[in-house]
Amino acid sequence: MTDVSHYMRTSLTIIKGEIEIVLQKNRKGEEYRKVFKLLEDESTHLQRIVENLSTLAYADAGALVSRKEIIDLTKICERQIEKVKVLKNRKNICLKASLQKNCYIYGDRNRIAELVFNLLENAIKYTPSHKTIFVELFKKESLIFLRIIDEGIGIEIKDLLKVFKRFYRSEAAKKLCKGTGLGLSICCSIVKSHDGELEISTCPGLGTCIEVRLKLITSFS
Ligand SMILES: Nc1ncnc2c1ncn2[C@@H]1O[C@H](COP(=O)(O)OP(=O)(O)OP(=O)(O)O)[C@@H](O)[C@H]1O
Ligand SMILES: [Mg+2]
Repeated sequence: MTDVSHYMRTSLTIIKGEIEIVLQKNRKGEEYRKVFKLLEDESTHLQRIVENLSTLAYADAGALVSRKEIIDLTKICERQIEKVKVLKNRKNICLKASLQKNCYIYGDRNRIAELVFNLLENAIKYTPSHKTIFVELFKKESLIFLRIIDEGIGIEIKDLLKVFKRFYRSEAAKKLCKGTGLGLSICCSIVKSHDGELEISTCPGLGTCIEVRLKLITSFS
């Protein structure tokens, strides 16, 4: 928790500091734009922390899933892929998706969207520029498989169990980008509350595959 308070305080200090400096005298348009960009980045970071903390609070209260209904995972994946486009374009990462149609599950629409977003966000964060991310969604027997495969930094064996713990971030991840270490633990809680399974296969330096398995709905009565 101390890390998160630290991140939040740092972000707020940056935001306040930048505003104070820019207000000291009249600036050129370009200078304002630079500051606004920085403010946007910091507030996005803060927003993510607050969202993640809120999700964790719901999970701890046993109220992570509010309303389950029949949802089309294909459509949710398409929407989330659209949502991360800006992030992946910023890094010139190519995202290839192969999504089977009509992958229906019984679940909480918002939480499942959050799950897919967190996994895509991680794949983008931990993959160097100009590499490729593959998203696969398919049905097999009574299950739906969602695979997010990246060509990123991978996860060291010693970190594999720890990455599911709240606030844990590998040293390699800390060097690469910002984060709070909450995304994957949230993903685990979401998958668990949908009676699903989440599995990581990874090779340091080569990439990571995260597979989520959820129950397929075939009968709609
Ligand atoms: N696709 C990936 N490739 C390599 N390492 C990963 C990947 N996904 C997760 N990790 C490792 O697992 C750690 C925990 O991931 P998690 O999503 O929980 O936190 P985060 O991305 O650091 O921060 P945030 O809370 O903002 O998501 C990461 O810090 C990183 O070390
Ligand atoms: Mg993350």
